[in-house]
Amino acid sequence: MKPLLTLADLARNPADFATPLRMATGEQISLRPLIPSDGERLTRFLMGLSPESRRLSTFSGYDRATAQALCDAIARYDKLRLAVVETDKAEESIVGLMEFSFDLTGGDLSRYANYGIGLNQKSDCRFGPTLADGWQNRGLGSRLLPPLWQIARAFGRSRVILWGGVLADNSRAIRYYAKNGFHHAGRFVSGDGQECCDMILSLETDTMDRARTVESIR
Ligand SMILES: CC(C)(COP(=O)(O)OP(=O)(O)OC[C@H]1O[C@@H](n2cnc3c(N)ncnc32)[C@H](O)[C@@H]1OP(=O)(O)O)[C@@H](O)C(=O)NCCC(=O)NCCS
Repeated sequence: MKPLLTLADLARNPADFATPLRMATGEQISLRPLIPSDGERLTRFLMGLSPESRRLSTFSGYDRATAQALCDAIARYDKLRLAVVETDKAEESIVGLMEFSFDLTGGDLSRYANYGIGLNQKSDCRFGPTLADGWQNRGLGSRLLPPLWQIARAFGRSRVILWGGVLADNSRAIRYYAKNGFHHAGRFVSGDGQECCDMILSLETDTMDRARTVESIR
């Protein structure tokens, strides 16, 4: 059996885990692990997010210190962050951050238990995507999912839940998850009183095929 991928593997050879994509509009994109030298690029990405994108996303801050903390966290703890990078400009820029957490919280376990779904610490993971405002709603988020799921599977993960759920009024994200195979699991009220939805995806083969079909019809 193939050994499972580790955070250290990705940190050692990030270029081996990069996926190039070309947008229909011509831009060249690379999905690749966040690297320690991304601090400036990540700061510009976070600072450029609009108030609405900040409301919908899950970052603890939108400044240089947050960007540095995310770079310092590479290959530590349980988090894997992949940067979405526009590569065909004179200077590369980060236009999105795709985040996995490979450690479920007690809150995740008990919410899902209430829905009648038993989560598994070893084979489930959490996921949260954020694209820069100018890159939202152009199909990029959907195109990124097959290579992201390939990485999650290489980490031995067979189901994905949303990191912190999705705000119930984030109809675009809910549409995005649903069209890419996620199912509604239940609703909950977050610690700060916001109505949220839990959604879950199985990475079994039929779901992967559906994701590829969504990609190929774009
Ligand atoms: C969520 C996100 C990653 C999705 O990526 P994306 O590239 O924008 O998604 P796609 O373009 O692949 O798909 C978006 C879908 O939502 C639809 N949509 C757009 N606005 C919508 C709205 N207000 N209500 C319902 N659906 C909407 C689009 O038409 C598209 O569906 P379609 O392909 O059937 O036409 C991205 O929009 C984002 O970063 N949003 C801000 C942060 C965020 O909400 N993150 C999720 C936190 S849980």
